[in-house]
Amino acid sequence: MANVLGKLLSLAAAGTMMISNSLLMAAPQNDVNGLLFLQNRQWRVSKYYEPETIKADVPGQLQDMRADAAAALEEMFAACKAETGVTLKAVSGYRSYQRQSTIYQNKLDRVGTREKADQYVARPGASEHQLGLAMDVGQKSDDVNLTSSFGRTKGGKWVAEHCWEYGFILRYQEDWVDVTGYEYEPWHVRYVGKENARLIQEADMPLETYLLLMREDTLLWILTGEEQE
Ligand code: DAL
Ligand code: ZN
Repeated sequence: MANVLGKLLSLAAAGTMMISNSLLMAAPQNDVNGLLFLQNRQWRVSKYYEPETIKADVPGQLQDMRADAAAALEEMFAACKAETGVTLKAVSGYRSYQRQSTIYQNKLDRVGTREKADQYVARPGASEHQLGLAMDVGQKSDDVNLTSSFGRTKGGKWVAEHCWEYGFILRYQEDWVDVTGYEYEPWHVRYVGKENARLIQEADMPLETYLLLMREDTLLWILTGEEQE
């Protein structure tokens, strides 16, 4: 019996769990290893999901990401340095389910209620960091890292403007709180690949909305002007 359960759980680990019934249920990407996998409050992975990661060769800590994301991060940090002189650093990349659980609990201890903690930290299983595709970016002066002030720094502004060129999107923007469910995070970038990032940047919308429209098969048509059959 335990073995059967174990097998079922490991199968579930490769897939997703639908948590609640909402507009965001329309998540079209169910390939957990795909670049457009939607990970948010509604769409989560189990505690058994662990991507293969490598350590990005960039300054900072917790530099682990999936290989394609790590290479793109290295490219982005080098470009920022060359263009602005700012040294970006990795603050937090891949986080296991367990690590996310600890981070959530620490936040909860600090702010006191789940309602408040949920505005800033994803519950375990709901964080893009568990996918190995997210990085919290900072810069050398520690005092602004992981605060909204980072968005007003030279490095933060550069990241917001240019991250798409390297395949990343700024996932939690000020105007999108109602859709993403999280406060403004100018430091959190999510890797989706260069082509997707270009289209999402052009569309200028949260990943949730973009994927919903993609599912409706309209957005690419609007953006590319291709005739539909
Ligand atoms: N701070 C983001 C939402 C996370 O915990 O993944
Ligand atoms: Zn983050």
